[in-house]
Amino acid sequence: MNRLAIKVENLVKEFKTKENILQVIKGISFELQKGEISMLVGPSGSGKTTLLTMLGCILEPTRGKIYLDDELIYDDKWILKDTRKLRREKLGFIFQTHNLIPFLNVEENITLVPQLNGISKIEYTKKAKELLEYLGIEDKNKYMIGSLSGGQSQRVAIARSLANNPRIILADEPTAALDKERAISVMELLCKIAKEQEVAMIVVTHDDRLLPYFDSVLKIEDGYLTKKLNEGVDL
Ligand SMILES: Nc1ncnc2c1ncn2[C@@H]1O[C@H](COP(=O)(O)OP(=O)(O)OP(=O)(O)O)[C@@H](O)[C@H]1O
Ligand SMILES: [Mg+2]
Repeated sequence: MNRLAIKVENLVKEFKTKENILQVIKGISFELQKGEISMLVGPSGSGKTTLLTMLGCILEPTRGKIYLDDELIYDDKWILKDTRKLRREKLGFIFQTHNLIPFLNVEENITLVPQLNGISKIEYTKKAKELLEYLGIEDKNKYMIGSLSGGQSQRVAIARSLANNPRIILADEPTAALDKERAISVMELLCKIAKEQEVAMIVVTHDDRLLPYFDSVLKIEDGYLTKKLNEGVDL
């Protein structure tokens, strides 16, 4: 059985501006196993969000190869005609800004993708309730997004990313708006899901206190990426 969840080969991303071409990612390669939870670090502007959005099939790379869950999805161009299906069924994305839909309430935001995936109402309502309870905001399920605090919105975004039982979770500073205790309980939740369901995760965080939760560290700097296993952790 193949244990790889993510494989990237010589991935490059250039942004063309009017004046010049900015090469943000200069040819990076790495692999992540199923159930592996990896911390993505690097200075501001180094390309962390750029990398996550390419892996999430939201931003088109310039060239290279991406495999997700054993499937070649990008080989100098998108292989799949419709990456939305892959995103809906296999990926969970937690954005740096929460990107919740303002005219839907909390529960509707969380259950939108499971509904699109044809999950029954009983099942997705139960799942949303469980996730909201775990994240400590079960009383907010009928609230509109605009009436939540920053930390509460971020927890709804986390619940939404988990609602479709994804194989891969890409999280861009998911705990930035949370206090220390809540940040740790969110990391514990993510680790539990990663281990129990063999979900691979890449989490961008500047919070060194969260380091013990990670199996490995991906560091991106000057367009290149290095991967180190977190010492003392058995994969
Ligand atoms: N659409 C775009 N057009 C041009 N340049 C872009 C675009 N998106 C990102 N960039 C540039 O690419 C570089 C990497 O940006 P990115 O947002 O990936 O950094 P980051 O590591 O996530 O930073 P932060 O820690 O501040 O979130 C930056 O120099 C940014 O200005
Ligand atoms: Mg970013």
